[in-house]
Amino acid sequence: MNRETFLEKYLKNFLKRKEIKLNEEAFNTILRELKRFAYNPFGEGVNPAPTADGSYTLIHNKYGEPYHSQTAGAIREAYWKFVKPSRILEKAKKKEVIKILDIGFGLGYNLAVALKHLWDINPSLKVEIISFEKELIKDIPILPEPYREIHKRIISAVPEHEDERLKIKVYIGDARKEIKKVEFNADAVFHDAFSPYKNPELWTCDFLKLIKERIDEKGYWVSYSSSLSVRKSLILLGFKVGSSKEVGRKRKGTVASLKAPVPPMEEEELRKLALSPFAKPMRDENLSKEPLEILIEYLLKVYNYLPQ
Ligand SMILES: C[S@@+](CC[C@H](N)C(=O)[O-])C[C@H]1O[C@@H](n2cnc3c(N)ncnc32)[C@H](O)[C@@H]1O
Repeated sequence: MNRETFLEKYLKNFLKRKEIKLNEEAFNTILRELKRFAYNPFGEGVNPAPTADGSYTLIHNKYGEPYHSQTAGAIREAYWKFVKPSRILEKAKKKEVIKILDIGFGLGYNLAVALKHLWDINPSLKVEIISFEKELIKDIPILPEPYREIHKRIISAVPEHEDERLKIKVYIGDARKEIKKVEFNADAVFHDAFSPYKNPELWTCDFLKLIKERIDEKGYWVSYSSSLSVRKSLILLGFKVGSSKEVGRKRKGTVASLKAPVPPMEEEELRKLALSPFAKPMRDENLSKEPLEILIEYLLKVYNYLPQ
């Protein structure tokens, strides 16, 4: 069976199970969106790919996406979409400990870039990291200088390590289950799953609620994504939501905080958030739905084929 046939069968079974009747046009609309956006259940393995700043990333064949932006550059994305907008570099000057909650360890790039800059600012800073990853990659490309040593150190610290300056634990498994084992008060959350349509289980309002319970009131949740659905969920959960800057050809990201000030969004972004049918939360009430189920239910709401 190929991807297209699989998606069509999946949609038919889903509708039957939920006793949802769609007319032909509605069915074709949802199927078209699934074919455009859903992951490839038959995709396997990863392939290396260069990025604009000279570093390498990997492309994941199931998600059909790179781990980092190729057009922005992996290091530049890590710095400008995660490290800088999370404001941990400013906090590092005043605090003795910085706590990072890292959603999607991946290749460990965001963490390596964060540690390098944090320790440049305050060499005696203690950094505590809780990370989640369901699929650890064996041959991770090592970042170039000046991140090389720190990146190697992070990789060899997985899944668990503690010394005077670094405490890290990577929970291996589905983050939706693993996060419940953790109590934390993060200064920063690096939310770096694959994109919301491909990896919806990590972008639902219900998963974000678990993150809200583990972030400091003055902490910052940051992501490369500017998804309307994700921004809407954050707002519904009581976060203030703003934008981080574009990097290269990569669009703006999102910065959110419960109590600390966030950079403003542009008029156009606010308008879309208020009016677009896509500005609806993805839902996973028991944190156990299959990713495709989450995506189909979301699309049915977007196209108004379900009672709201
Ligand atoms: C974009 S990559 C992360 C890149 C990483 N932050 C870095 O700096 O190298 C997304 C990661 O999320 C992981 N992931 C996807 N779904 C997950 C889930 N349900 N639970 C835990 N990890 C998941 C993927 O395996 C992948 O490694």
